[in-house]
Order: sequence, then structure tokens, then C-alpha cells
Amino acid sequence: MTWEEENLVNAAPRWLGDRQIGALGFGCWRLVGNDTQAATRLISSALDLGMTLIDNADVYGLDWGGTAFGESERLLGSVLAQNPTLRDKMVLASKGSILPGVPYVANAAYLNAACDASLQRLQSTHIDLFQIHRPDMFTHPEETAAALDGLVAAGKISMVGVSNYTPAQIHALRGFLQAPLVSLQSQFSVSTLDILRNGTLDLCMETGMTPLAWSPLAGGQIVSGDQQPAALSAALDALAARENVDRAAIALGFILAHPSACVPLIGSQSSARLEAATAALNVCLTRRDIYQLIEASEGVALP
Ligand SMILES: NC(=O)c1ccc[n+]([C@@H]2O[C@H](COP(=O)([O-])OP(=O)(O)OC[C@H]3O[C@@H](n4cnc5c(N)ncnc54)[C@H](OP(=O)(O)O)[C@@H]3O)[C@@H](O)[C@H]2O)c1
Repeated sequence: MTWEEENLVNAAPRWLGDRQIGALGFGCWRLVGNDTQAATRLISSALDLGMTLIDNADVYGLDWGGTAFGESERLLGSVLAQNPTLRDKMVLASKGSILPGVPYVANAAYLNAACDASLQRLQSTHIDLFQIHRPDMFTHPEETAAALDGLVAAGKISMVGVSNYTPAQIHALRGFLQAPLVSLQSQFSVSTLDILRNGTLDLCMETGMTPLAWSPLAGGQIVSGDQQPAALSAALDALAARENVDRAAIALGFILAHPSACVPLIGSQSSARLEAATAALNVCLTRRDIYQLIEASEGVALP
């Protein structure tokens, strides 16, 4: 194989600390309501398709027709209570620190109470990956770190991650944290490319943190083409035709191609679309394809 033919898409399982997870994860932001049976079908589909990281947050439930803080965790908790075998099949992730009206708090008292409340809603003895959802810039990282280490020591959480942190904020937290920081969740898609160049993905590769990409399809806009550059939609379509897949599979393949072994968090609430997303694991994207997508997304030729 020549360098030109090299397929950059990495479909292999990822390491999250000492746990292995599928290359695609499932996100619960849009998982709302109280239909436990439908939610069980969806979570089971995700797990069967290898999306073993199930990402939730205490604040999920206030959008997409949900009515309350904690609603998504509560629904997932009722799925787990009625189907206890599912718990061992997943790496259960949740987040705290966003509190509408504040809106960020990551001090010790709050994180301890938030974690207990999440455990109760999730009907679980522990959370596998607990993430600070957004940085609370007015809590010293030493306090946040001590709280997270305390939760690990208490057995309430197994691993620690962060979300929407800048590289500098990560450095500061890591400086005080005893537990390894295993993941960084950031907005990343073929139409939102900031973390390619702002040091975020570089820091993940330097430290071994697993990047988790939120809104990997830009909330569906990459598929619909809404508010997307026409050139990007055209470039995705050309590659989709060549690979015999849909736009979504190429867009997800783009994320899988980054050498940081990033995990796109799929947000669809449709089992059929979850299944279709796994086509991304089998697409071939060369370096030339990847840079062509970046140029189409940014609307300027790379120098
Ligand atoms: N850390 C953070 O601050 C943060 C912020 C946002 C999200 N997240 C995480 O990232 C996860 C994913 O975010 P997201 O929901 O915005 O992700 P996404 O995968 O970019 O968007 C999902 C949306 O796209 C729609 N969609 C349209 N066509 C689709 C297709 N062919 N395949 C799949 N979906 C299609 C889905 O609709 P259907 O349901 O009808 O398929 C759904 O409404 C969240 O669940 C959450 O875990 C984290």
C-alpha cells in the first residue's frame, strides 16, 4: 500500500483508563421522558452495536421535550433497575457542574452532593466516568481536584474526566489531581474544527486522555446541510457515494481518522440511525480526503 492509499479511519476499540470502549459512544442528551421500555430498546441497541460508553449528565432533561434537571439520568436509572444486566455491559459516564441559574459550580460541597444525586437517579452503586461538565472558573482547581479524588476514594466514581476545558485549565487541574484524568469531552465535528488547532487534541495525545467528541454531526445539521457550507455537503456526498454510505458515516469517519483515537458520541434516538452510524467504522478515508473535507468546511485552501 502506498501512503496515498492509507486508510486513516481507526475503528479499533479505545482505552478509557483501564476500561475498553467501542470506537463509537452513545450520548443521552436527547434521552428524555418516562418511557422505560423504549429507552431500554435504545440503550440495548447501542450496546449491541458496540457503543459501550453511555454518556449522560445531571443537567440532561431540560431540552428536547424533557421537563426537569436529572430527567435523563432518571430514565437511564429506571432502564438499569429493570434490566440490571445492562449495567455490566456499559461504561457509565455522567457529568456535573452545570446548574442553570448559576450556571457553573465545581466546589467540593456541590460536587459531593451532585454525585450522590446522580448515583441515586442512575440507581447505580458507582459511576464509571465522572466528568466536570464545564469549568467553574471561580473554584480553585485544587478544590475541584480534591473533591474528585475524594469521590474516587469513596468508590462512588471509578474514573475522572473533564468536558469543555481549555488545555490550560486541564494542566491546572491535573497539577492537583491524584487520579489520572482519562478523558476530555469537546465539541468536534467536520464542521467544528477548533480542537484540531487549539491544543486540545494535542494535549490528549501527549497525556493519553481519550477525546470524546460531542455533537459529532453538529446536532444533525451535517446531515441536513442546514447552516453548513454547500462545499462541505458536496464533499461529504462525493465521498459517501464513493464509499457507498451516507453523509453521517463520512462525517463520523472523519472524527475516527484523527490519530488521538477520538470517540464520537452519537446523539440519535433512533435505533436504525445508530445502526447506520456503524458504517463509519468501515469507510476508508485517506489523508487527501481528510484535508479536502477540512478545506470544504473552512472555505479556504490550506496553505
Ligand atoms: N459536554 C457537552 O457540553 C455536550 C454538549 C452537547 C452534547 N454532548 C454529548 O454529545 C452527545 C451527542 O450530541 P448530539 O445529540 O448533538 O449529537 P449529534 O449526533 O451531532 O446529533 C444528533 C441529532 O442529529 C439528528 N440526526 C439527523 N440525521 C442523523 C443521522 N443520519 N444519524 C444520526 N443522527 C442524525 C438526530 O436525530 P434523531 O434522534 O431523530 O436520529 C439527533 O437529533 C450528547 O448526547 C451528549 O452526550 C455533550
